[in-house]
Amino acid sequence: MKFFIDTANLEQIKEAEALGVLDGVTTNPSLMAKEGITGQENIIQHYLDICAIVDGPVSAEVISTDFEGMIREGEVLAALHPNIVVKIPMIHDGIKALRYFSNKGIKTNCTLVFSAGQALLAAKAGATYVSPFVGRLDDVSTDGMELIEQIRLIYDNYMYDTQILAASVRHTMHIIKCAEAGSDVMTGPLSAILGLLKHPLTDIGLEKFLADYKKGNS
Ligand code: G3P
Repeated sequence: MKFFIDTANLEQIKEAEALGVLDGVTTNPSLMAKEGITGQENIIQHYLDICAIVDGPVSAEVISTDFEGMIREGEVLAALHPNIVVKIPMIHDGIKALRYFSNKGIKTNCTLVFSAGQALLAAKAGATYVSPFVGRLDDVSTDGMELIEQIRLIYDNYMYDTQILAASVRHTMHIIKCAEAGSDVMTGPLSAILGLLKHPLTDIGLEKFLADYKKGNS
């Protein structure tokens, strides 16, 4: 399973990259705003900065909601760097935009997906990635992980190339469950990735190994 980090924070992206397990980055307008990145020029520069840190797919989201606007924005974004993936919302004109970019060989990430039907449409339209929002489904008392399992089954039935990119991953257990369900990619915060390495028995075991070494070598 590929690990993407879901942030626009350059320090966190650098830290995940330095760990050696990072495959890509996803951003969205909220994450950009959280880092205080505003204005088209600054946003574009920020995508370039991210691409300079990580050699993997970097999702950059369009703001338009009409077909022409999404195409205009998406073409500018795609021309920035070969690793840019144009992020398109799951709406009527978004489906048309996914098909347009797919026909042109431009990679896309269909975002704001909350149902199997939406994921099926995204695959039919040729999306490179589909982003079901696991955490936000959990927030409304619906098991987000069940949606990942459902999409996996549907995509496998018809051998769709679209990759499942589990998004709105909030914590470490989400990552484990995504891996069990066969998600192609998960995107989450650095804290969820770092949580994978923690186990008290590892800490206790290491402490004992080091203490025993000290005893034998003092
Ligand atoms: O990738 C989508 C993600 O940024 C949404 O996460 O935590 O705002 O639901 P969250």
